[in-house]
Amino acid sequence: MIHPAELIERKRNGEELPAGEISELILGYARGEIPDYQLAAFCMAVYFRGMTAAETYALTDAMIRSGRTLDLGAALGRKVVDKHSTGGVGDKTTIAVGPIVAACGVPVGKMSGRGLGHTGGTLDKLESIPGFSVDLSIDDFVRQVQEVGLAIVGQTDDLVPADKKLYGLRDVTATVDILPLIASSIMSKKIAGGADAIVLDVKVGDGAFMKTLEDARALAQAMLELGEHAGRQVVCLLTDMDQPLGAAVGNSLEIAEARDTVRGEGPPDFTELVLDACARLLSLSDLGIDEDEGRRRAEAAVGDGSALAVYERWIRAQGGDPDPAALPQAPVVLEVRAPREGSVVRLGAIAVGMAALHLGAGRRTKEDAIDHSVGVLCHVKRGASVAAGDVLAEVRAGDEASGEEAVAAVLAAYELGDEPPREHPILLDVVS
Ligand code: URA
Repeated sequence: MIHPAELIERKRNGEELPAGEISELILGYARGEIPDYQLAAFCMAVYFRGMTAAETYALTDAMIRSGRTLDLGAALGRKVVDKHSTGGVGDKTTIAVGPIVAACGVPVGKMSGRGLGHTGGTLDKLESIPGFSVDLSIDDFVRQVQEVGLAIVGQTDDLVPADKKLYGLRDVTATVDILPLIASSIMSKKIAGGADAIVLDVKVGDGAFMKTLEDARALAQAMLELGEHAGRQVVCLLTDMDQPLGAAVGNSLEIAEARDTVRGEGPPDFTELVLDACARLLSLSDLGIDEDEGRRRAEAAVGDGSALAVYERWIRAQGGDPDPAALPQAPVVLEVRAPREGSVVRLGAIAVGMAALHLGAGRRTKEDAIDHSVGVLCHVKRGASVAAGDVLAEVRAGDEASGEEAVAAVLAAYELGDEPPREHPILLDVVS
């Protein structure tokens, strides 16, 4: 029997803990036998002392064993591929990737999460579609993946319950942004969810947990090792989160942008990330093709309308109305204009994410309700040149006062300078 206080002390003093003790701590916490305050102290000790690879694996393994696991592959009789993002501003990638990959003949069954703070969650975005339900039983989830090729639902309570509890605790104890805890949180869910091959989108920059390429590479490497230890193939894309992804930040705006991208009319940076992720997922699938062929097929599914057809079937299967005109519209639309001529040298992702949050697009606490109609459209991105008075962005607000506040915040997120215009690549590195 472990003594949590003694375990916390040893971690605090920099000792490496044996796997069995980490396992008892996590399983005891998941069963409600160890209180929040002791896990909070443990997470803070990990924050300052880190974890070895063996400890991180023990933590991940215990989290998986805290609940049930899914074998989607056996139910489908197919190799299962999955993607996951470490989270950012304007990140609606899953909503566009799912229909494209499914249209290429690879089934996608995905469990997603909600947003908190300045990062949005896929489930909140999907719930801006009138009628759309994210609550499917496991049987209905599997049936829909078989029949439609695509289902995206909320995580069930019995899959990695330790992560659900621990993530909530980390969120209010300043212990989210620490590598071993992020790696084990993400990989426990991916492994328990039954994915054979996983594409991880590790965000880097101002709006991401990992602020530097070096930290992002370390997180990618840790997740790769956890996946390989569990016999899964993992590819990590390191992608730019120094500015919002695409133009849209805010739930219904992001749904509209994801749909546009599925039909080939999305913003360039977002389109590039989506097609790259699709190509890698297809190359890891049981189709037996390489990335170049995966890219070609993904582009063809977008070009011939088959990806849009899957998108519409999927939204209807989960009770939603796929017509973009059915999405909630904010009553107030305000423009953000360039105060001078120049080029955009910075567009702060967190600042835009926080502006959307204050408009009501996100939650400050878990209990907050979301206004699905509000948000920001960043029409001009880093590297572009503008003339004085050009529209940089648009704010969609519930009322004039909150809209004006957001206009000021978004304007402050744009830094204009005199550098020559240049492209900023979305894909920064690949770790595999
Ligand atoms: N996403 C997760 O699922 N867990 C983390 O800890 C961070 C991002």
